[in-house]
Order: sequence, then C-alpha cells, then structure tokens
Amino acid sequence: MNESLSANCQSLVSVNRLCKTYGGVKRFFGATTPPLKAVNNVSFDIAPGETLGLVGESGSGKSTTGRVLLQLEQPTSGEISFKGNNITGLSKPMLKPYRRDMQIIFQDPYASLNPRMAVGEFVGEPLDVHGLAGSRSEREGRVAALFRKVGLDPAFMKRFPHEFSGGQRQRVNIARAIALNPAFIVADEPITALDVSIQAQIVNLFQDLQDELGLTYLFIAHDLSMIRYLCHRVAVMLRGRIVEIGPCEAIFENPQHPYTRALLSAIPVPDPDIERDRHPISFDVNANLPPEAAILRSVDEGHFVLEA
Ligand SMILES: Nc1ncnc2c1ncn2[C@@H]1O[C@H](COP(=O)(O)OP(=O)(O)O)[C@@H](O)[C@H]1O
Ligand SMILES: [Mg+2]
Repeated sequence: MNESLSANCQSLVSVNRLCKTYGGVKRFFGATTPPLKAVNNVSFDIAPGETLGLVGESGSGKSTTGRVLLQLEQPTSGEISFKGNNITGLSKPMLKPYRRDMQIIFQDPYASLNPRMAVGEFVGEPLDVHGLAGSRSEREGRVAALFRKVGLDPAFMKRFPHEFSGGQRQRVNIARAIALNPAFIVADEPITALDVSIQAQIVNLFQDLQDELGLTYLFIAHDLSMIRYLCHRVAVMLRGRIVEIGPCEAIFENPQHPYTRALLSAIPVPDPDIERDRHPISFDVNANLPPEAAILRSVDEGHFVLEA
C-alpha cells in the first residue's frame, strides 16, 4: 500500500501502482501497434464517505482508471483493494459479491438505458439478478422508493427512456446504480452531456445521496467547475499519470503543477469584473510530458505534486 498517498488508513478503495497499457500487439497484417500507457503508475486511496474527483483533459486516462478499478478490465500491472481485500484479477464468481458494492454511472444517460425496457423494469433489474426482488408488489414498492430517492415520480415507472429529459434519464441510471445499496460508485462524467441548467441539480442529487446513504464516489470530470462543490479531494491526470492530488481547497487555492494551474485558469468566473481580467494559462502537453521517473512529492498535508 502506498501509505504516503492515503487520505485515511482505513480506505474503502485503494489502487497501488496501477498500469493499463493498450496496443503493442503484433497484428496479423502490418506492424505492431505502439503500446499506449493509458494509465501509468497511478496510486490513490478513497476513504469511506469521501468523494475523490478525477480531472484532466480528454484522453488522459480517467475512464480507463475507473474501469480497471472496477475490474471491468484487467490492469496490466498494479493492485486494487476494496474494503481491505485485494480484488485484482479475481474470477467472475469471486468478484460477484464485490460487483454489488461497486457501481458505475456513465456520461451518456440515454446510451446506458435500454430503449425497449420500461424504466421501472430497468431500475429493478439488478434486484432480479441478485435474487432480491421478492414478490411482484414488493419489487414494485422497492423500485418506487428508488424513484422517490432520486427525485422521480414513481408514476413514471411504466414509461420508456425516450419519454424523459436528459436529467431525468440520468436520475434513472442513478436509481439503478443505488438499487443494491452499493458502497462505492464511479461516476464517469455523469453531468457532461446534460444542459448546464440541469448539471447543478444532478450534482446536488449525488451529494444528497452521499449524505443519506454514506456513499463513496470517484467522480470523473474533464473540467473543474462542479468538482469544487462536490469533492473532498481532487486528483489531476495528464497522459496517464496523476500530476497532482490533494484536498479540494489546496488544489483550487494553491495549485502547484503547471497543468493544474492551466486547467483552473480555464474556468470562467461568474463575476464579470474578474472574468474580464482572467487570463487563461496555456500548457503545452507535448513539450511538458512528465518524465517517466518523476515521483509525487509532498508539498503539504495530503497534497502531492509530480516533480518535473
Ligand atoms: N479499449 C481501448 N483500446 C485502445 N486504446 C484505448 C482503449 N480505451 C482507451 N484507450 C486509449 O487510452 C487513452 C485514455 O483513454 P480514456 O481512459 O478513455 O481517457 P479519458 O477518460 O480521460 O478521456 C486514450 O488515448 C484512449 O484512446
Ligand atoms: Mg472518459
């Protein structure tokens, strides 16, 4: 375990030196594709009830980190622990009890839904899969309760996905994700595809559910604006590596890595006077790739930066 990066010794989730490489495979025709280190030596812990934000530009390896963490894909190397158990490389049956406890919510709420399934069926499906549905009326009662929890009228249970707005569809996905009382949810850009006016409502829902159910989140986003309101800690990813990780306030008030500073400077400010004087900082990724041997060094309590 990488103690130096722990927010808390009793972490719920912990990844240690996680790597995921794609490519490098000899094709039948043509040359070998060069290997791509989508996730490169990533370590972090998440404490129970905590939200860790994972930010960085598109292609930096955020989704891959989330998928490998949930064992939807095998890591190339490294270790994943959940509730103190090493779950790396477990077989499907061995993983089943953990699957209940770890859920994922994706960016596109429509693509995640089954267009031919009434949303009530969709939300209740995990209960069937795990044999928890009980009688028909019991199941209906549980699904109705899930609907209420995410701010949807249970009268909509018989409707189909196309009858809902983007925000409502994401509420349906969230209802399904919490159906089995998970401890941990990876939310992979869950608000990116939604209208700006709806984004704050969904962020608030995530927060309310965390307070009510004690959920732990890995919240993936490619911009930092909502992260500030939701996350306890933030990790900044660049080309497969974490370049900075620390308490939310430290990242926003005292960013150390030039890439973090560039990301922060790109956020528009609501105050027009400040906005007028805002100067986005540019950051040339290709000219500033983190050296392979660079390590995270501590700058403050729980705040680490990848040295150049
Ligand atoms: N299944 C895959 N096969 C090959 N390359 C992949 C695969 N999934 C992701 N990648 C590559 O890995 C890198 C990281 O992707 P991803 O984790 O989706 O980034 P992000 O979520 O930060 O946008 C990208 O260069 C992407 O093209
Ligand atoms: Mg992604």
